[in-house]
Amino acid sequence: MSKSVQAIRGMNDLLPEEAAIWQFVEQVARDTVHAYGYREIRFPIAEKTELFSRSIGDATDIVEKEMYTFEDRSGDSLSLRPEGTASVVRAGIEHGLLYNQVQRFWYIGPMFRHERPQKGRYRQFYQIGVEAFGMPGPDVDAELIMLLARFFRVLGLDGLTLEINSLGTPEARKVYRQKLVEYFECHRDALDEDSLRRLDKNPLRILDSKDAQTRAIVADAPLLSDHLDDESREHFTRLTRYLDDAGIGYAVNPRLVRGLDYYSRTVFEWTTDKLGAQSAVCAGGRYDGLVEHLGGKATPGIGFAMGIERLVELLKLADTPRADIKPHVYIAMLGELAEKEGMKLAELLRDAGFRTQLNCGGGGLKGQMKKADRSEARFAMILGEEEVNRGVVALKDLRINGEQEVIAVDAITDELEKRIKPLLEN
Ligand code: HAM
Repeated sequence: MSKSVQAIRGMNDLLPEEAAIWQFVEQVARDTVHAYGYREIRFPIAEKTELFSRSIGDATDIVEKEMYTFEDRSGDSLSLRPEGTASVVRAGIEHGLLYNQVQRFWYIGPMFRHERPQKGRYRQFYQIGVEAFGMPGPDVDAELIMLLARFFRVLGLDGLTLEINSLGTPEARKVYRQKLVEYFECHRDALDEDSLRRLDKNPLRILDSKDAQTRAIVADAPLLSDHLDDESREHFTRLTRYLDDAGIGYAVNPRLVRGLDYYSRTVFEWTTDKLGAQSAVCAGGRYDGLVEHLGGKATPGIGFAMGIERLVELLKLADTPRADIKPHVYIAMLGELAEKEGMKLAELLRDAGFRTQLNCGGGGLKGQMKKADRSEARFAMILGEEEVNRGVVALKDLRINGEQEVIAVDAITDELEKRIKPLLEN
């Protein structure tokens, strides 16, 4: 026997058992973003590499080390999308959707990063994201955070922490960056290798280093909040007021810098302490310069993305509800005539909105009832030649050890409705 082919490391199959939780998350996400007027946008899995290097930044981990980049047959350098913001901006510019307009978009789909796989960190992972354009004030920043608070509440997830910060304008950040480099230069000897490398290219990222010794140095580093421009400070204060008014708890974390270059002003992250090292469930922020930077006319933007795998992991811990996709009815049939009628009956039930699984492949009554049990259907409907001739079916509640009932085919949808409705209400 030849060796079987395995999936790529860090790229997971989603099996039916877990898919039910994913569907629940996706449904709640759709309902929530629609409740705030966001409209779906879809964009390709691959883009020109340049799009990501120009937007996320050449010196970021994502672009430097994690992208799936390849040359296609025409010799163009393409990359699998590591995130969605760059593509949404690209699509928005390309289709003339951004300049002088207000837009609210959302998306869902797989992203690709060649990171070291571990629990909650994968090479193909799924994001649900939102991007809003044309609104410079902090009201939309608050709206996004309120949307997220509602989403987590409806999902039944509590215990998440919201951290916020302002990165100010690029000009203010330049001054701060200089101060920071000077400070770290004085402590060069104590910095870890990664941080030393970042010192030239991306010193702000040293602020969220995980290395213990570096963290001790970071603790006394100058703070960006002390170097903010007045307008950004005002923007941030107004955001915190909106959040206070909405009763949303948050912590201001002056060292929250994010790993992508396009941010300006507001940045935020929702974290959990239940998933070990991969604590960020959702992250985002404002990117007022990105549209212009990618060749469009200056348009402010803000958005976030959350990792579905991490949400699902949290839901599994919390044992919250999952999408119910179990069949309502399993149809068992004995004999050719019953099989023919059963197929018709199944279509009729589906027309009436019942999830119906038909026994395919024949078999005796015992075997079919076993399959009915395994399907997790609530009811079995049994059909033999005699039932067909009499225009009836035998109905059995598979969760209650009761008698079978004989019901006229004409009355079957009403009778099922009567039995299933109370189950849904409980
Ligand atoms: P990000 O922080 O790179 O931001 O990713 C957002 C979220 O995606 C993370 O908080 C995490 O839940 C999930 N995530 C990231 N990498 C992985 C991975 N390797 N495995 C599993 N989950 C992962 C962005 O992507 C920005 N585009 C967010 C944004 C949108 N900012 C503005 N608009």
